[in-house]
Amino acid sequence: MKLPPGPKTPSWLLNLQFETDPFGYMDSISQSYGDIVTIILGSTPIVYVSNPLGIKEIFTNTKEITARGELNQDFAFLTGNQGILQLDGLCHKHRRKLLMQAFHGDRMQACGRRICELTEKIMSSLAFAKHFVAYPTIEDITLRVGIEVVMGLREGERYEKIKYLFAEIIKYQQSILYQLMMKLPFLPKGLDRWSPRRYLLHLREELFSLLETEVQERRQQADSSRTDMLNDLIFARDEAGEALSDEEIRDLLLSPIFAAQDASATAIAWALYWIHRLPVVKEKLLQELDNLGEHPDPMHIVALPYLSAVCNEALRIYPTQLFAFPRLVESPVEIMGYELSPGTVLIGNIYRTHQREDLYPQPQQFQPERFLKKQFSPYEFLPFGGGTRVCIGGSFALFEMKLVLATILSNYQLTLVDKRPEKPKFGGLISYPASGVKMFMHGRRQHQGQSKPLVAGLL
Ligand code: HEM
Repeated sequence: MKLPPGPKTPSWLLNLQFETDPFGYMDSISQSYGDIVTIILGSTPIVYVSNPLGIKEIFTNTKEITARGELNQDFAFLTGNQGILQLDGLCHKHRRKLLMQAFHGDRMQACGRRICELTEKIMSSLAFAKHFVAYPTIEDITLRVGIEVVMGLREGERYEKIKYLFAEIIKYQQSILYQLMMKLPFLPKGLDRWSPRRYLLHLREELFSLLETEVQERRQQADSSRTDMLNDLIFARDEAGEALSDEEIRDLLLSPIFAAQDASATAIAWALYWIHRLPVVKEKLLQELDNLGEHPDPMHIVALPYLSAVCNEALRIYPTQLFAFPRLVESPVEIMGYELSPGTVLIGNIYRTHQREDLYPQPQQFQPERFLKKQFSPYEFLPFGGGTRVCIGGSFALFEMKLVLATILSNYQLTLVDKRPEKPKFGGLISYPASGVKMFMHGRRQHQGQSKPLVAGLL
């Protein structure tokens, strides 16, 4: 069996090249080897696919290709051994169904106003005529929303502590110090005394213990009227008809909160960057938003075509998650003319698929109009992955993205501080804007919509 072509660089150099410039590296190997490329890490061949037909096969051929939980073991340290990423097969399918109840239409509708309120609360706390960094500001919003939707918590000492711990974990992982220490060959990477992970372990222990206490208290309260993910899990039964254990519920809450906090904040920060970098885009968006009048219904905001196109284009050009989670070839399978043997790892390369010239002409340019002119298939536009592990919060993330952006743009005047283009920085799973997007808050913006009198002198 012949593997698809790929670089023969040693693993350590490959890692270095990738970590220094993940986008440049992915571009260069695609240019050299095409849209199916093998990278050998250790003894495992990893095949990256950025061709819609190949991606379709990876997501839909569930007989020969599986989404094994063991492939995501690296994340278990923070997302728990029984988290959704670590599960597979029937148990995975069942738990996904439980988690997804939280995103049903009626619950999302109820959540819309709250997202706008929280956005207004955080934005109005920023000083006028001063700089601020978009990522941590937006993260404050998305983390609050995430904890509310997932755990039903809004305030109190425990809520504040949980919020602090989630934020601190992401901040520490993104810090240059941690990134550097993880690269130093002489420092232990496990949980030994001098390992950079020791502090993470300490944060994790505190977080796990607070989540467990919350699960136990909520179980005792047994209030079936609540509509958050935690309540769904407390009242759920597993395949054998048994209640889920406290530890399992704790683990199942972790990935959704981390994703709601981090992936959503990254996507919104990138969108803010593009909107403020391109005056035409901002102008068109403001016109569309103002046409809804003052205080529009959130459901009308999320239906706006240009706003939707802007969000899609932001998720296309620098997808928050560059790759889908890995899949495993279980029995011989043919992908794009290559016969792959069991044990081969397959990765849907979201970034490179979104950069295909044949699908997205001038792919490096931010052009929301492409999403108004054409409908892309789920194997051509896949910011939320696909198949059995497709993002459970994809629709919710878009819903939130539109409401946060609409609230900020309609009510505040912002500009970018830096004239240079924002670079992406890869942080293990997510591609962050490297500077966090530095912005200047000018102040409140006057609504310019239909509700404004046409002749100012008449009032
Ligand atoms: C813009 C924001 C987001 C992006 C770009 C994003 C992207 C993704 C991607 C690419 C995957 C992997 C899919 C695959 O391997 O095929 C994924 C999985 C996942 N996402 Fe998201 N996500 C976002 C927001 C969210 C939110 C808000 C939540 C929950 C509240 C969430 C929860 C999850 C979970 C739990 C998984 C793992 C699913 C499984 O293992 O079955 N994500 N996401």
